[in-house]
Amino acid sequence: MPQITFTYAGQTKTVQADAGKTLLQAAIDNQVPMEHACGGNGFCTTCLCKVKEGAQNLTPRNDREEMMGVEGDDRLGCQATANGDVAVEMEG
Ligand code: FES
Repeated sequence: MPQITFTYAGQTKTVQADAGKTLLQAAIDNQVPMEHACGGNGFCTTCLCKVKEGAQNLTPRNDREEMMGVEGDDRLGCQATANGDVAVEMEG
């Protein structure tokens, strides 16, 4: 089961993510405060996070992320699914 480490507001929390769950779903399931103003539909970027480790363990950037101009180490938490261990940092 993939482990996802979230860094946010000066703290770090590592959670187990069920297979096929997005970073956002894993965050919500574990009381990690990842914003999701559009309800996880890829239209708002409030779930934007920076991948620190394990980028290769995430599903490839999808069309929604491309449309929203997500680049570099950034991913939309509602669109990226982990297949292995990942560490992400939430902005703001
Ligand atoms: Fe809106 Fe991810 S929750 S883009």
